[in-house]
Amino acid sequence: MKKNRTVWSNRLSKGNSKNFQRIGSSINVDKRLYKEDILASIVHTHMLIKQKIIPKKDGLRIIKGLKKIEKEIDKNKFKFKEQFEDIHQNIEKRLFQIIGESAGFLHTARSRNDQVVTDFKIWVKHSTEDIIKFLDNLIRSILNKSENNINTVMPGFTHLKNAQPVSFAHYLLAYVEMLIRDKKRFLNNIILIDECPLGSAALAGTAFKIDRKFTAKKLGFKKPTNNSIDSVSDRDFAIDFLSAAATCAMHLSRLAEDFIIFNSEAFGFVEFRDKVLTGSSIMPQKKNPDPAELIRGRTAINYGNLNSMLTIMKGLPISYYKDLQDDKELVFDSYDTLKDSLLMAIELIQNLNTKKNNMKQMAQKGYTTATDFADFLSMKKKFPFRKGYYISSKLVNYAEKKKIRLDQLSKGEINKFVKVDIDIPKMFDVVNSMNSKTSFGGTSTKNVKKMIIKYRKDLK
Ligand code: ARG
Repeated sequence: MKKNRTVWSNRLSKGNSKNFQRIGSSINVDKRLYKEDILASIVHTHMLIKQKIIPKKDGLRIIKGLKKIEKEIDKNKFKFKEQFEDIHQNIEKRLFQIIGESAGFLHTARSRNDQVVTDFKIWVKHSTEDIIKFLDNLIRSILNKSENNINTVMPGFTHLKNAQPVSFAHYLLAYVEMLIRDKKRFLNNIILIDECPLGSAALAGTAFKIDRKFTAKKLGFKKPTNNSIDSVSDRDFAIDFLSAAATCAMHLSRLAEDFIIFNSEAFGFVEFRDKVLTGSSIMPQKKNPDPAELIRGRTAINYGNLNSMLTIMKGLPISYYKDLQDDKELVFDSYDTLKDSLLMAIELIQNLNTKKNNMKQMAQKGYTTATDFADFLSMKKKFPFRKGYYISSKLVNYAEKKKIRLDQLSKGEINKFVKVDIDIPKMFDVVNSMNSKTSFGGTSTKNVKKMIIKYRKDLK
């Protein structure tokens, strides 16, 4: 075979236009699969030798050549050529250069269609495991920060209006719950992806007596895929990855958005160390939380990639089409983006300080313990909750008119609305309010402490 000619140069004698060669080539993207491709080729070759499909001597030369190519790529000494389209053909071409005609045995009983999806599945599996490690690190960072803020009281919000006092740790642990679900989504994908497509060949399977169970096992899959047509068509695993990444990015974006709000002068709940801040080119005083904004903004990239992949698949007739070539760029990009967002989230958490006084002061504004008084009337006076709610709302109207807090009301004033004998400061205290929420999953410090221990145990 001539050196610089494509595999199909007999059939397509003219060669491609320069434009199409550039546009149709995926080497700049899929070279990232070289390790997976070489591994799968080596395993495939072992199987071909074992099954006596190719001569052992040629097979061993192939394996040696492939290992040499891997080193060349590792050391940046490999010349990737657009003309050979993708990583698979670049490697095959180089193999011919190194070992000559024996290289021609490698592509026995396989096609790039099953080859690419095998490589890609291995990559997605490992990258999923990688993301899970980053998620664990983020969870760990949040637990550390929570531990120091169990007694930090802040206003919980609904509609961004002060709602009820909560522990800052409890607030943070809400994100731990989201991240644990994200982890489960990624873990679930690893179960679904665990079938090896290699040996499905172009789409029909092959007449060679291959051993698909052998290659599946050697490549770390549980079993071979059942249907050769599905095998080369399926990109569910890519969609699952992109979907889990999009959901995870959405959670990170909400956390980032909270931090941006909490870091504003208007709120002043948290501050970040300079490590994760930038200044302004015109305003000398500024310290901006850019990483949080990047996390929020880049969620769009994770969403977009999922949407692109779903749309690529939507009208595709069954089996392989070139449309599928763009799958890798989307998944690689989502992986890179999410990994960076996780890294930034970890750094933000580690470099966050809570301004506890500001939080507490804000928790005392907006009559955040009005519900506690309604609850008290319902529990202690046995009023129907609606009656307690009504009385408490009257009390809020009165205090609002007088421009004072509920705990600044006198006994006499309260008795005008309802006859009760209460310790007023205690009744309306935000810390007491927080600690009264002892229901399972509630914000009392007792609960929060227990939950942190549980999360730590689960992480191990
Ligand atoms: N570079 C191709 C891809 O990523 C490999 C599969 C090519 N198969 C084909 N029949 N053209 O999808």
